[in-house]
Amino acid sequence: MTGSFEGAVALVTGAASGMGLATAKAFAEAGASVALADVHESAVRSAADGLISAGHKAIAVRCDVADEQEVASMIGRTVAAFGRLDAAFNNAGVQSPAVETADASGEEFDRVNAINLRGVWNCMKYELRRMREQGTGAIVNCSSIGGLIGIPGRATYHASKHGVIGLTKSAALEYASRGIRINAICPGTIDTPMVAAMLAKEPEAMKDILKDQPIGRLGRAEEIASAVLWLCSPGASFVIGHSLAVDGGYTIR
Ligand SMILES: NC(=O)c1ccc[n+]([C@@H]2O[C@H](COP(=O)([O-])OP(=O)(O)OC[C@H]3O[C@@H](n4cnc5c(N)ncnc54)[C@H](O)[C@@H]3O)[C@@H](O)[C@H]2O)c1
Repeated sequence: MTGSFEGAVALVTGAASGMGLATAKAFAEAGASVALADVHESAVRSAADGLISAGHKAIAVRCDVADEQEVASMIGRTVAAFGRLDAAFNNAGVQSPAVETADASGEEFDRVNAINLRGVWNCMKYELRRMREQGTGAIVNCSSIGGLIGIPGRATYHASKHGVIGLTKSAALEYASRGIRINAICPGTIDTPMVAAMLAKEPEAMKDILKDQPIGRLGRAEEIASAVLWLCSPGASFVIGHSLAVDGGYTIR
């Protein structure tokens, strides 16, 4: 995806690593000014510094997306730095170890949903306050193949990612006629630090993962970035409330 985002302002959460970092870079290379937000302060600062030293416009914002006040201030800082907000990728999220539902912990359920689901809700709320003033904008929320299907042992994570699709569809209907498009992306298994951490704990999982990939390999963070940029671009002007699987064919069987 190469369309131009010259003059546009993009915000990416979870931008210190993986798909968030790849998407922040892709927006910057397409000409956007980018706010990179992450709970991991030193990592997000060094990600933003990398873009700035490559000649792009970027700021780093330390933000825990589960905290509504921090999210409000993240949007405030983005608009203070760059004057507007055209595109947002609400990507920050965490995995949860596989566990049988009867043995799952309530604290873990609350932790994961506070980041993956409430975090997306927090971000959309304040992004939309800005975008409805402008009368334009595009939001992409990060769901997962875990938002489309079930997998044994993954109920906590999958609940959060199914929830993201519900938020996306209802909010998309509210803003469809007001110049703001809201969609979700559903990545398959992508080669990022999150998956590397999961495989470190469950090393036998890689054989099973690869067996289930019709394309025969894991996805790359840049392949998600490309889809996110398209969803935020005028090329997707009639795409609203959609949950786009970018999964090497995983969910088509
Ligand atoms: N990697 C995959 O296979 C895969 C598949 C489907 C969906 N996803 C989703 O994609 C998103 C990005 O995943 P990734 O694989 O790039 O992971 P990653 O772990 O490489 O990056 C996630 C980033 O989010 C940040 N983060 C975590 N909690 C945060 C919080 N509370 N506030 C702000 N930032 C926070 C982390 O510091 C990290 O920089 C997540 O929502 C994840 O659930 C990943």
